[in-house]
Amino acid sequence: MKIRLIKGMRLIVATHNPGKAVEIDALLDGHYEVVTAASLNLPEPEETESTFVGNALLKARHAADRAGEVALADDSGLSVAALDGAPGIFSARWAGPEKDFAFAMRRVEDRLEEVSSDDRRAWFTSALAVAWPDGPAVVVEGRVDGVLTFPPRGDRGFGYDPIFVPEGYDQTFGELDPALKDSISHRARAFAKLKAALID
Ligand code: IMP
Repeated sequence: MKIRLIKGMRLIVATHNPGKAVEIDALLDGHYEVVTAASLNLPEPEETESTFVGNALLKARHAADRAGEVALADDSGLSVAALDGAPGIFSARWAGPEKDFAFAMRRVEDRLEEVSSDDRRAWFTSALAVAWPDGPAVVVEGRVDGVLTFPPRGDRGFGYDPIFVPEGYDQTFGELDPALKDSISHRARAFAKLKAALID
């Protein structure tokens, strides 16, 4: 069976974050009728898997089966080589209930000091999953490699952007032009793979 996303179709985006839904709508070039899981009052599942791919699939499957429609979900985060990939799938949780990323970035710096490592390699990962109700699912992953820098620099972007310098650049994601970030980011790379897999 050839599974495809047909332009114009309704797509449930399995998020309760309206900002994320807008971003996903833009990355899909506005070709779909994007409806959030929140607007359908679908409950958010607990992210119980141990990988980005696992959690993206879990969220897409949960929304698709409950809504009875095709659903898309993402899961992303920052992994630090010297911290064995932490914070990884816990990236959002490291910022605490207040979503304080200055705190989360300090936590990364403190942990690096604790392990006394000079290794500053890190990468962002974005997993995207699309699930058909009671049917197949497709999952892809995009990654951008770089190094960490402290103190944080730049007030563009979000999350861990001010401490991440992508490979081949001198500025952090917090300093670089957002359009440039959007062209090389983990999310852009994952969407390119998703389009190649599911869109004619
Ligand atoms: P989730 O995918 O909503 O579970 O959250 C992923 C977390 O990873 C976000 O809250 C950010 O902290 C972090 N993250 C993911 N992508 C980026 C990015 O492009 N820049 C900075 N931080 C990111």
